[in-house]
Amino acid sequence: MPKFIGIDIGTTGSKVLLIDEEGRVIDKETVEYALYMPKPGWSEQNPEDWWAATKRAIKTIIARNRVTPNSIEGIGLTGQMHGLVMLDKNWEVIRPAILWNDQRTAAEAELLNQKFGEKVIEITGSIVHTGFTAPKILWIKRNEPQNFEKMRKFMLPKDYVGFKLTGNITTDVNDASGTSLFDVRRRKWSDELISELNLPGEIFPEVLESPNVRGELGREPAEELGLRPGIPVVAGAGDQGAAGVGAGAVSEGIVSVNIGTSGVVFTGSNEYRFDSKGRLHAFCHASPSKWHLMGVMLSAGGSLRWFRDALGHLEKAAASLIGDDPYNLLVKEAESIPLGSEGLIFLPYLSGERTPHADPYARGVFFGLSLKHGKGHMVRAILEGVAFGLMNSLELMMELGIKPKELRILGGGSRSPLWRKILADVFGLRVYLLEVDEGSSYGAAILAAVGAGIYESVEKAVENIIRVIDPLDPDKHSHETYRAYYKLFNRLYQVLKQEFRELANLL
Ligand code: XUL
Repeated sequence: MPKFIGIDIGTTGSKVLLIDEEGRVIDKETVEYALYMPKPGWSEQNPEDWWAATKRAIKTIIARNRVTPNSIEGIGLTGQMHGLVMLDKNWEVIRPAILWNDQRTAAEAELLNQKFGEKVIEITGSIVHTGFTAPKILWIKRNEPQNFEKMRKFMLPKDYVGFKLTGNITTDVNDASGTSLFDVRRRKWSDELISELNLPGEIFPEVLESPNVRGELGREPAEELGLRPGIPVVAGAGDQGAAGVGAGAVSEGIVSVNIGTSGVVFTGSNEYRFDSKGRLHAFCHASPSKWHLMGVMLSAGGSLRWFRDALGHLEKAAASLIGDDPYNLLVKEAESIPLGSEGLIFLPYLSGERTPHADPYARGVFFGLSLKHGKGHMVRAILEGVAFGLMNSLELMMELGIKPKELRILGGGSRSPLWRKILADVFGLRVYLLEVDEGSSYGAAILAAVGAGIYESVEKAVENIIRVIDPLDPDKHSHETYRAYYKLFNRLYQVLKQEFRELANLL
């Protein structure tokens, strides 16, 4: 049976997934690499490390499964979005890649938002965030002019691995949407923004739709990997775009909620619609006829991890004694706490926020603490506060005309039945789990199967492959009660907005 490889160039490692044409997972392997923080707020990686890790992961999988080279019929790529990889005239890497979570470009992002105002939202589907690619290019121009002069092409992280596999310098419409230089409605680079920024047109890579073939696996890498030269390598998508495919969030109204460190609310859209304040990301979908809307919350699972590490020492010790997960023990303490955490509300802005408040100064808050509140209350308040923050994203989508049909929960946070129940009740929607929850690499492998011609479209592939399980319905009464807490949750940010800035000034 034909097999497909999905490669995900993540922030901690390269994950390689092998599936068959019906979407069954055969094997997976992750090889980690270093993250460099040369100055506070800076975040860099070496593109060569991504390639070396990817080769190791592929070779391990091929050897472990005794895969015959002829059975692999397609390779798909995905990875961390927004990062800047720069190549010189010999196609050598000029400097380490600057990643999506690098904070050095706050001034450049602000400058771009001021210069372009609403125009940049209308063209690119979002305001310019500090982590996006255009402010990075501007930063290089201002701070490393010699490197800017040397640059013949820039590309996004997964595209460097695509270049090593095929020799072609290409990206895809979904990942390009996160550069702040892409005309998302027309699915092409924005001539207007590029000329206003005085950027040379030659540095922009070719852009393809996600399931289209970016090139064939070259002879040299094929030999090194033990694969057949000529395997089609598809353009792929950014990690969130591919995760959307892996969750089957292609049709409008199928909403996926991915709770990892961050929390992402994602749905397909039949037309290009964007939030006029740029609070959501409106990007090209990996399915060529569609767009998608996405809200990104910076500390979702990250909020619970913070609590575990700061206050969960007992649970950590107990869990290691009984061979359980400290998260299970913490969430157990929250199970007996009533809805609303007896008047305790948590604002999950531990590392600032992206959607709906693009605010680097916002911080976490426990509001309403009293003598009766204990650890269980705080854990429940975190689960509820994260659900409220995610609801903010869905509400913005609904304001744009999206009619949510169902919620598919994925990522680490989906493992908690209590969290799923809270999400169903806060959203007032039926929630499902996915039979296969492999995230972005799964979406990349599915795109490879479409590119290889096994399925005629991304929609058809998803219809055939993705299965949802464990439906959980919201409780009407609980939903009503949560509405009141949700209103208060929303007011708290508005009341504290200025104070968050003042706090930052004190520091
Ligand atoms: C998406 C985003 C992250 C990064 C890293 O907008 O910032 O998903 O792609 O995972």
